Amino acid sequence: MSSTDSSLSSSRRAVLVTGGAGFIGSHLADALVFRGEQVVVLDDLSTGDRARLSPAVRFVQGDIRDAALPELLKTERVGTIFHLAAQVDVRKSVSDPVGDASVNVLGTVNVAHAAARAGVAQIIFASSGGAIYGDPQGDRADESHPLCPCSPYGAAKLAGEKYLQALSIDGGFAVTLLRFANVYGPRQDGRGEAGVVGIWMRRLLDGDEAVIYGDGLQTRDFVYVADVVAANLAAHAGRVAGTINVGTGVETDLVDLYRKTAVACDSGRPAIHAAAKPGEQRRSVLDPTRAGAALGLTTWVALDQGLRSTAEWFRLQPTAGSS
Ligand SMILES: NC(=O)c1ccc[n+]([C@@H]2O[C@H](COP(=O)([O-])OP(=O)(O)OC[C@H]3O[C@@H](n4cnc5c(N)ncnc54)[C@H](O)[C@@H]3O)[C@@H](O)[C@H]2O)c1
Repeated sequence: MSSTDSSLSSSRRAVLVTGGAGFIGSHLADALVFRGEQVVVLDDLSTGDRARLSPAVRFVQGDIRDAALPELLKTERVGTIFHLAAQVDVRKSVSDPVGDASVNVLGTVNVAHAAARAGVAQIIFASSGGAIYGDPQGDRADESHPLCPCSPYGAAKLAGEKYLQALSIDGGFAVTLLRFANVYGPRQDGRGEAGVVGIWMRRLLDGDEAVIYGDGLQTRDFVYVADVVAANLAAHAGRVAGTINVGTGVETDLVDLYRKTAVACDSGRPAIHAAAKPGEQRRSVLDPTRAGAALGLTTWVALDQGLRSTAEWFRLQPTAGSS
Protein backbone atom coordinates (compact mmCIF):
# COMPACT_ATOMS: atom_id res chain seq x y z
CA MET A 1 0.00 0.00 0.00
CA SER A 2 1.47 3.35 -0.92
CA SER A 3 -0.01 6.48 0.62
CA THR A 4 0.39 10.02 -0.56
CA ASP A 5 -0.44 13.37 1.06
CA SER A 6 0.64 14.76 4.41
CA SER A 7 -0.21 13.06 7.70
CA LEU A 8 -3.40 13.85 9.58
CA SER A 9 -2.91 16.36 12.35
CA SER A 10 -6.19 16.61 14.25
CA SER A 11 -7.13 14.23 17.05
CA ARG A 12 -10.50 13.50 15.38
CA ARG A 13 -10.88 10.05 13.91
CA ALA A 14 -10.83 9.72 10.16
CA VAL A 15 -13.27 7.96 7.86
CA LEU A 16 -12.07 5.42 5.30
CA VAL A 17 -13.87 4.92 2.00
CA THR A 18 -12.79 1.69 0.34
CA GLY A 19 -13.45 1.92 -3.39
CA GLY A 20 -13.54 5.70 -2.98
CA ALA A 21 -12.18 6.32 -6.49
CA GLY A 22 -15.20 4.53 -7.97
CA PHE A 23 -18.55 5.85 -9.14
CA ILE A 24 -20.46 5.87 -5.83
CA GLY A 25 -17.42 6.05 -3.55
CA SER A 26 -16.09 9.25 -5.12
CA HIS A 27 -19.44 11.02 -4.62
CA LEU A 28 -19.43 9.84 -1.01
CA ALA A 29 -15.84 11.03 -0.50
CA ASP A 30 -16.78 14.47 -1.88
CA ALA A 31 -19.74 14.71 0.51
CA LEU A 32 -17.63 13.65 3.50
CA VAL A 33 -14.96 16.25 2.65
CA PHE A 34 -17.73 18.85 2.35
CA ARG A 35 -18.85 17.91 5.87
CA GLY A 36 -15.36 18.52 7.23
CA GLU A 37 -14.44 14.86 7.76
CA GLN A 38 -10.85 13.66 7.42
CA VAL A 39 -11.26 11.30 4.49
CA VAL A 40 -8.95 8.46 3.52
CA VAL A 41 -9.63 6.55 0.31
CA LEU A 42 -8.29 3.04 -0.25
CA ASP A 43 -8.63 1.93 -3.85
CA ASP A 44 -6.59 -0.30 -6.16
CA LEU A 45 -7.79 1.70 -9.20
CA SER A 46 -8.86 -1.51 -10.96
CA THR A 47 -11.96 0.35 -12.17
CA GLY A 48 -11.65 3.58 -10.18
CA ASP A 49 -10.09 6.84 -11.30
CA ARG A 50 -7.98 8.95 -9.01
CA ALA A 51 -8.90 12.06 -10.98
CA ARG A 52 -12.37 11.85 -9.38
CA LEU A 53 -10.92 12.63 -5.95
CA SER A 54 -10.65 16.02 -4.30
CA PRO A 55 -7.13 17.07 -3.23
CA ALA A 56 -8.50 17.16 0.34
CA VAL A 57 -8.72 13.36 0.33
CA ARG A 58 -5.80 11.30 1.55
CA PHE A 59 -5.41 8.67 -1.16
CA VAL A 60 -3.92 5.24 -0.56
CA GLN A 61 -3.50 3.00 -3.57
CA GLY A 62 -3.88 -0.56 -2.39
CA ASP A 63 -5.95 -3.72 -2.20
CA ILE A 64 -8.59 -4.41 0.46
CA ARG A 65 -7.11 -7.93 0.74
CA ASP A 66 -3.74 -6.57 1.91
CA ALA A 67 -2.56 -8.10 5.20
CA ALA A 68 -1.22 -4.67 6.22
CA LEU A 69 -4.73 -3.18 6.43
CA PRO A 70 -4.84 -3.06 10.28
CA GLU A 71 -1.68 -0.92 10.30
CA LEU A 72 -3.24 1.49 7.80
CA LEU A 73 -6.39 1.77 9.93
CA LYS A 74 -4.35 2.44 13.07
CA THR A 75 -1.94 4.91 11.44
CA GLU A 76 -4.80 6.87 9.91
CA ARG A 77 -6.88 6.64 13.12
CA VAL A 78 -9.92 5.38 11.23
CA GLY A 79 -13.18 5.36 13.21
CA THR A 80 -15.63 4.48 10.44
CA ILE A 81 -15.22 2.44 7.27
CA PHE A 82 -17.53 2.90 4.31
CA HIS A 83 -16.82 -0.36 2.51
CA LEU A 84 -17.60 0.04 -1.19
CA ALA A 85 -14.59 -1.56 -2.90
CA ALA A 86 -15.82 -4.50 -4.93
CA GLN A 87 -15.80 -6.33 -8.20
CA VAL A 88 -19.15 -4.96 -9.44
CA ASP A 89 -19.64 -6.66 -12.79
CA VAL A 90 -22.34 -9.34 -12.44
CA ARG A 91 -21.41 -10.99 -15.76
CA LYS A 92 -17.76 -11.14 -14.75
CA SER A 93 -18.81 -12.84 -11.51
CA VAL A 94 -20.42 -15.56 -13.65
CA SER A 95 -17.34 -16.06 -15.86
CA ASP A 96 -14.86 -15.79 -12.95
CA PRO A 97 -16.63 -16.62 -9.67
CA VAL A 98 -13.35 -17.34 -7.91
CA GLY A 99 -11.95 -13.92 -8.79
CA ASP A 100 -15.22 -12.29 -7.75
CA ALA A 101 -15.26 -14.10 -4.40
CA SER A 102 -11.62 -13.25 -3.80
CA VAL A 103 -12.41 -9.51 -3.84
CA ASN A 104 -16.03 -9.51 -2.66
CA VAL A 105 -15.88 -12.20 0.02
CA LEU A 106 -12.24 -12.44 1.15
CA GLY A 107 -11.72 -8.70 0.70
CA THR A 108 -14.72 -7.97 2.93
CA VAL A 109 -13.54 -10.52 5.51
CA ASN A 110 -10.14 -8.81 5.56
CA VAL A 111 -11.74 -5.38 6.03
CA ALA A 112 -13.86 -6.68 8.95
CA HIS A 113 -10.97 -8.57 10.57
CA ALA A 114 -8.68 -5.55 10.26
CA ALA A 115 -11.40 -3.27 11.67
CA ALA A 116 -11.71 -5.48 14.73
CA ARG A 117 -7.98 -5.35 15.36
CA ALA A 118 -7.77 -1.59 14.83
CA GLY A 119 -10.69 -0.58 17.07
CA VAL A 120 -12.93 0.74 14.28
CA ALA A 121 -16.36 1.79 15.60
CA GLN A 122 -18.60 1.25 12.54
CA ILE A 123 -18.55 -0.39 9.12
CA ILE A 124 -21.13 0.74 6.57
CA PHE A 125 -21.33 -1.83 3.79
CA ALA A 126 -22.47 -1.28 0.20
CA SER A 127 -24.67 -4.33 -0.31
CA SER A 128 -27.15 -4.95 -3.08
CA GLY A 129 -30.90 -5.42 -2.69
CA GLY A 130 -31.40 -6.30 -6.33
CA ALA A 131 -28.70 -8.96 -6.32
CA ILE A 132 -29.56 -10.71 -3.06
CA TYR A 133 -33.40 -10.75 -3.01
CA GLY A 134 -33.87 -12.06 -6.53
CA ASP A 135 -37.30 -11.46 -8.10
CA PRO A 136 -39.53 -9.91 -5.39
CA GLN A 137 -42.27 -12.15 -4.05
CA GLY A 138 -45.22 -9.77 -4.04
CA ASP A 139 -45.11 -6.02 -4.43
CA ARG A 140 -41.76 -4.70 -3.15
CA ALA A 141 -38.92 -6.45 -1.32
CA ASP A 142 -38.46 -5.27 2.26
CA GLU A 143 -35.49 -6.22 4.44
CA SER A 144 -37.17 -9.44 5.63
CA HIS A 145 -37.67 -10.71 2.07
CA PRO A 146 -36.19 -14.20 1.42
CA LEU A 147 -32.61 -14.04 0.19
CA CYS A 148 -32.21 -15.72 -3.20
CA PRO A 149 -29.07 -14.46 -4.91
CA CYS A 150 -28.99 -15.77 -8.46
CA SER A 151 -25.45 -14.70 -9.41
CA PRO A 152 -22.04 -15.27 -7.81
CA TYR A 153 -21.92 -11.48 -7.30
CA GLY A 154 -25.15 -11.61 -5.25
CA ALA A 155 -23.95 -14.65 -3.31
CA ALA A 156 -20.70 -12.85 -2.48
CA LYS A 157 -22.55 -9.71 -1.32
CA LEU A 158 -24.70 -11.86 0.96
CA ALA A 159 -21.64 -13.68 2.29
CA GLY A 160 -20.03 -10.28 2.94
CA GLU A 161 -23.05 -9.22 4.98
CA LYS A 162 -22.92 -12.41 7.06
CA TYR A 163 -19.15 -12.16 7.68
CA LEU A 164 -19.47 -8.55 8.78
CA GLN A 165 -22.20 -9.46 11.25
CA ALA A 166 -20.30 -12.50 12.55
CA LEU A 167 -16.99 -10.67 12.94
CA SER A 168 -18.67 -7.70 14.64
CA ILE A 169 -19.68 -9.84 17.62
CA ASP A 170 -16.15 -10.03 18.99
CA GLY A 171 -14.85 -7.16 16.86
CA GLY A 172 -16.77 -4.51 18.72
CA PHE A 173 -17.84 -2.49 15.69
CA ALA A 174 -21.37 -1.57 14.60
CA VAL A 175 -22.48 -2.89 11.21
CA THR A 176 -24.78 -1.09 8.80
CA LEU A 177 -25.82 -3.09 5.77
CA LEU A 178 -27.12 -0.72 3.11
CA ARG A 179 -28.80 -2.71 0.36
CA PHE A 180 -28.69 -0.42 -2.65
CA ALA A 181 -31.10 -0.64 -5.56
CA ASN A 182 -29.75 0.16 -9.06
CA VAL A 183 -27.65 3.28 -8.63
CA TYR A 184 -27.24 5.78 -11.48
CA GLY A 185 -25.83 9.26 -11.85
CA PRO A 186 -22.81 11.29 -12.98
CA ARG A 187 -19.48 9.37 -13.17
CA GLN A 188 -21.10 5.99 -13.69
CA ASP A 189 -19.87 3.63 -16.37
CA GLY A 190 -21.39 0.51 -17.84
CA ARG A 191 -20.21 -1.96 -15.21
CA GLY A 192 -22.45 -1.42 -12.16
CA GLU A 193 -25.97 -2.69 -11.60
CA ALA A 194 -27.55 0.35 -13.26
CA GLY A 195 -24.89 0.42 -15.96
CA VAL A 196 -27.54 0.55 -18.65
CA VAL A 197 -28.17 4.25 -17.92
CA GLY A 198 -24.53 5.15 -18.55
CA ILE A 199 -24.29 2.95 -21.65
CA TRP A 200 -27.46 4.35 -23.22
CA MET A 201 -26.60 7.97 -22.42
CA ARG A 202 -23.15 7.73 -23.96
CA ARG A 203 -24.55 6.14 -27.10
CA LEU A 204 -27.52 8.50 -27.51
CA LEU A 205 -25.39 11.61 -26.94
CA ASP A 206 -22.90 10.29 -29.52
CA GLY A 207 -25.78 9.76 -31.98
CA ASP A 208 -25.51 5.96 -31.81
CA GLU A 209 -28.15 3.28 -31.39
CA ALA A 210 -28.96 1.87 -27.96
CA VAL A 211 -30.07 -1.71 -27.36
CA ILE A 212 -32.80 -3.15 -25.14
CA TYR A 213 -32.28 -6.87 -24.53
CA GLY A 214 -35.51 -8.86 -24.48
CA ASP A 215 -38.98 -7.29 -24.41
CA GLY A 216 -37.86 -4.42 -22.17
CA LEU A 217 -40.55 -5.17 -19.61
CA GLN A 218 -38.01 -6.30 -17.03
CA THR A 219 -38.07 -3.82 -14.13
CA ARG A 220 -35.57 -2.20 -11.80
CA ASP A 221 -35.59 0.37 -8.99
CA PHE A 222 -33.33 3.24 -10.12
CA VAL A 223 -31.93 5.32 -7.27
CA TYR A 224 -29.96 8.51 -7.85
CA VAL A 225 -26.41 8.49 -6.48
CA ALA A 226 -27.00 11.57 -4.29
CA ASP A 227 -29.69 9.64 -2.40
CA VAL A 228 -27.28 6.75 -1.83
CA VAL A 229 -24.70 9.21 -0.49
CA ALA A 230 -27.36 10.72 1.81
CA ALA A 231 -28.14 7.24 3.20
CA ASN A 232 -24.46 6.60 3.95
CA LEU A 233 -24.06 9.99 5.64
CA ALA A 234 -27.18 9.47 7.77
CA ALA A 235 -26.03 5.99 8.84
CA HIS A 236 -22.69 7.49 9.88
CA ALA A 237 -24.04 10.59 11.61
CA GLY A 238 -26.58 8.64 13.67
CA ARG A 239 -24.34 5.54 14.09
CA VAL A 240 -27.36 3.62 12.78
CA ALA A 241 -26.79 -0.14 12.76
CA GLY A 242 -28.86 -2.80 10.99
CA THR A 243 -30.01 -3.69 7.52
CA ILE A 244 -31.60 -0.98 5.40
CA ASN A 245 -32.80 -0.87 1.79
CA VAL A 246 -31.69 2.16 -0.20
CA GLY A 247 -34.10 2.33 -3.11
CA THR A 248 -37.03 4.45 -4.21
CA GLY A 249 -39.79 1.83 -4.17
CA VAL A 250 -40.61 2.85 -7.75
CA GLU A 251 -40.51 0.04 -10.30
CA THR A 252 -39.50 1.15 -13.79
CA ASP A 253 -39.37 -1.09 -16.84
CA LEU A 254 -36.59 -0.69 -19.38
CA VAL A 255 -38.89 0.55 -22.14
CA ASP A 256 -39.97 3.41 -19.86
CA LEU A 257 -36.37 3.99 -18.72
CA TYR A 258 -35.27 4.20 -22.35
CA ARG A 259 -38.00 6.73 -23.13
CA LYS A 260 -36.99 8.92 -20.17
CA THR A 261 -33.28 8.58 -21.00
CA ALA A 262 -33.90 9.62 -24.60
CA VAL A 263 -35.86 12.69 -23.41
CA ALA A 264 -33.01 13.63 -21.02
CA CYS A 265 -30.58 13.34 -23.96
CA ASP A 266 -32.88 15.23 -26.39
CA SER A 267 -32.81 12.18 -28.64
CA GLY A 268 -35.64 10.91 -30.80
CA ARG A 269 -33.80 7.72 -31.71
CA PRO A 270 -35.83 4.55 -31.06
CA ALA A 271 -34.22 1.66 -29.18
CA ILE A 272 -33.06 -1.47 -30.98
CA HIS A 273 -34.37 -4.73 -29.50
CA ALA A 274 -32.06 -7.75 -29.27
CA ALA A 275 -32.44 -11.25 -27.83
CA ALA A 276 -32.91 -11.45 -24.06
CA LYS A 277 -29.85 -12.23 -21.96
CA PRO A 278 -30.17 -15.68 -20.40
CA GLY A 279 -30.87 -15.77 -16.67
CA GLU A 280 -31.66 -12.07 -16.37
CA GLN A 281 -33.78 -11.13 -13.35
CA ARG A 282 -37.32 -10.12 -14.35
CA ARG A 283 -38.25 -7.72 -11.55
CA SER A 284 -36.44 -5.77 -8.85
CA VAL A 285 -37.88 -3.12 -6.55
CA LEU A 286 -37.08 -2.32 -2.91
CA ASP A 287 -39.36 -1.22 -0.10
CA PRO A 288 -37.81 2.01 1.27
CA THR A 289 -39.97 2.26 4.42
CA ARG A 290 -37.14 1.46 6.85
CA ALA A 291 -34.81 4.02 5.23
CA GLY A 292 -37.45 6.62 6.07
CA ALA A 293 -37.77 5.54 9.70
CA ALA A 294 -34.09 4.79 10.42
CA LEU A 295 -32.28 7.31 8.24
CA GLY A 296 -34.92 10.02 7.75
CA LEU A 297 -34.93 9.50 3.99
CA THR A 298 -38.48 10.02 2.84
CA THR A 299 -38.07 11.75 -0.52
CA TRP A 300 -36.04 10.41 -3.40
CA VAL A 301 -34.80 12.18 -6.50
CA ALA A 302 -37.38 11.56 -9.24
CA LEU A 303 -36.10 9.51 -12.17
CA ASP A 304 -36.69 12.23 -14.80
CA GLN A 305 -34.81 14.77 -12.70
CA GLY A 306 -31.92 12.39 -11.93
CA LEU A 307 -31.61 11.43 -15.58
CA ARG A 308 -31.51 15.11 -16.60
CA SER A 309 -28.65 15.76 -14.14
CA THR A 310 -26.84 12.64 -15.33
CA ALA A 311 -27.21 13.66 -18.99
CA GLU A 312 -25.83 17.12 -18.19
CA TRP A 313 -22.71 15.45 -16.80
CA PHE A 314 -22.35 13.06 -19.77
CA ARG A 315 -22.63 16.00 -22.19
CA LEU A 316 -19.52 17.53 -20.62
CA GLN A 317 -17.44 14.34 -21.01
CA PRO A 318 -15.24 13.74 -24.04
CA THR A 319 -16.75 11.22 -26.44
CA ALA A 320 -14.97 7.92 -27.16
CA GLY A 321 -13.63 9.19 -30.45
CA SER A 322 -12.50 12.64 -29.29
CA SER A 323 -9.61 11.79 -26.98
N1 LIG B 1 -23.76 0.73 -8.98
C1 LIG B 1 -24.82 0.09 -8.49
O1 LIG B 1 -25.91 0.12 -9.06
C2 LIG B 1 -24.70 -0.71 -7.20
C3 LIG B 1 -25.83 -1.36 -6.70
C4 LIG B 1 -25.73 -2.09 -5.52
C5 LIG B 1 -24.53 -2.14 -4.83
N2 LIG B 1 -23.43 -1.51 -5.35
C6 LIG B 1 -22.15 -1.60 -4.61
O2 LIG B 1 -21.65 -0.28 -4.40
C7 LIG B 1 -20.22 -0.33 -4.40
C8 LIG B 1 -19.65 0.70 -5.36
O3 LIG B 1 -20.08 0.37 -6.68
P1 LIG B 1 -19.79 1.32 -7.94
O4 LIG B 1 -20.95 1.19 -8.83
O5 LIG B 1 -19.35 2.66 -7.46
O6 LIG B 1 -18.59 0.54 -8.64
P2 LIG B 1 -17.12 1.02 -9.08
O7 LIG B 1 -16.50 -0.10 -9.86
O8 LIG B 1 -17.19 2.35 -9.73
O9 LIG B 1 -16.38 1.18 -7.69
C9 LIG B 1 -15.67 0.11 -7.06
C10 LIG B 1 -14.31 0.65 -6.65
O10 LIG B 1 -13.62 -0.40 -5.94
C11 LIG B 1 -12.27 -0.43 -6.38
N3 LIG B 1 -11.77 -1.78 -6.13
C12 LIG B 1 -12.14 -2.93 -6.76
N4 LIG B 1 -11.48 -3.97 -6.25
C13 LIG B 1 -10.67 -3.48 -5.27
C14 LIG B 1 -9.75 -4.07 -4.36
N5 LIG B 1 -9.49 -5.39 -4.38
N6 LIG B 1 -9.10 -3.28 -3.48
C15 LIG B 1 -9.32 -1.92 -3.47
N7 LIG B 1 -10.18 -1.32 -4.31
C16 LIG B 1 -10.85 -2.09 -5.19
C17 LIG B 1 -12.33 -0.05 -7.86
O11 LIG B 1 -11.12 0.43 -8.37
C18 LIG B 1 -13.43 1.01 -7.86
O12 LIG B 1 -12.88 2.31 -7.65
C19 LIG B 1 -19.85 -1.77 -4.72
O13 LIG B 1 -19.61 -2.46 -3.52
C20 LIG B 1 -21.09 -2.32 -5.40
O14 LIG B 1 -21.19 -3.72 -5.27
C21 LIG B 1 -23.48 -0.78 -6.51
